[in-house]
Amino acid sequence: MSARRGPDAAVQSNKPQRQYALLVALAYVNGELVEESEAQVSALDHGFVVGDGVFETVLLDAGRAFALDRHIDRLARSAAGLGLEPPDLAEVRMAVGRVVTASAIGRGRIRITLTAGRGPLGSARLAGAPTLVVAVAPDADTHRSSSVVVVPWRRNERGALAGLKTTSYGENVLALAYALDRGGDEAIFANTVDNLCEGTGSNIFLVREGHLVTPPLSSGCLAGITRALVLEIVGASEEDVDIAELVPTVVEEAFLTSSLRGVQPIASIDGKELGACPGPVTEKARAAYGELLGSTDEP
Ligand SMILES: Cc1ncc(COP(=O)(O)O)c(C=O)c1O
Repeated sequence: MSARRGPDAAVQSNKPQRQYALLVALAYVNGELVEESEAQVSALDHGFVVGDGVFETVLLDAGRAFALDRHIDRLARSAAGLGLEPPDLAEVRMAVGRVVTASAIGRGRIRITLTAGRGPLGSARLAGAPTLVVAVAPDADTHRSSSVVVVPWRRNERGALAGLKTTSYGENVLALAYALDRGGDEAIFANTVDNLCEGTGSNIFLVREGHLVTPPLSSGCLAGITRALVLEIVGASEEDVDIAELVPTVVEEAFLTSSLRGVQPIASIDGKELGACPGPVTEKARAAYGELLGSTDEP
């Protein structure tokens, strides 16, 4: 199927609609990879209309997709959790490989988006071909430290989407804007029972009384891949933390984790500086994670 089809053809066809978007103005390859200006999905795509989709953000490091197996597993879990048809994982993997190779980007982010495909203008879903978009963009490693802001809204740890990486990210958009308005660069959510949960695109670890802790998955946070790797290589207790304790008088040091940030020290919480940034525990986690990143593609 030609990726250059117009939108009318896309709406009329019942065949799977596949796009591999190249978000940099580089080569146009084989009629299957398209440049961003030519990448199109249906205006009736249920991902667009109601956020009926799942996604992954994968670190592109030294030209390789880091921990792709884990990301593909999570994509499948999120799709199952949202009730989407099981994705063709071989196709996802192939699309990632093709986009990465064609882009020739050394460091960046790969975004895999899988939606229910065309649907009606409401919440019901049509049985039909899903939409798969794999996009890549450069992303410099500029995440030295983070200033976080606790937002007044709550993650719902008992909600239908808890723990799923869906494209319904409106709450994260709003929360991040709230943090940016207050001089921060990441927003932190508590959950409905006032326990610490996660950031808009990150998990959080903190050190109190010398111990490294991170909220358990039951807090409603995403099962972050970087979080899991840090737990495996450094170790930490998965414990509920009262959000009222996320203050510099209690927290000795803290860091965020995500595929793009890696292990990122937190410098301040709600404008109040932490005593150590990075502290020794954070340094150790960052060094261990850096070593892992350098030693394998599939941790
Ligand atoms: C809500 C949320 N929590 C945590 C993370 C960190 O997950 P990972 O380490 O798999 O990138 C992300 C990643 O974007 C996220 O969106």
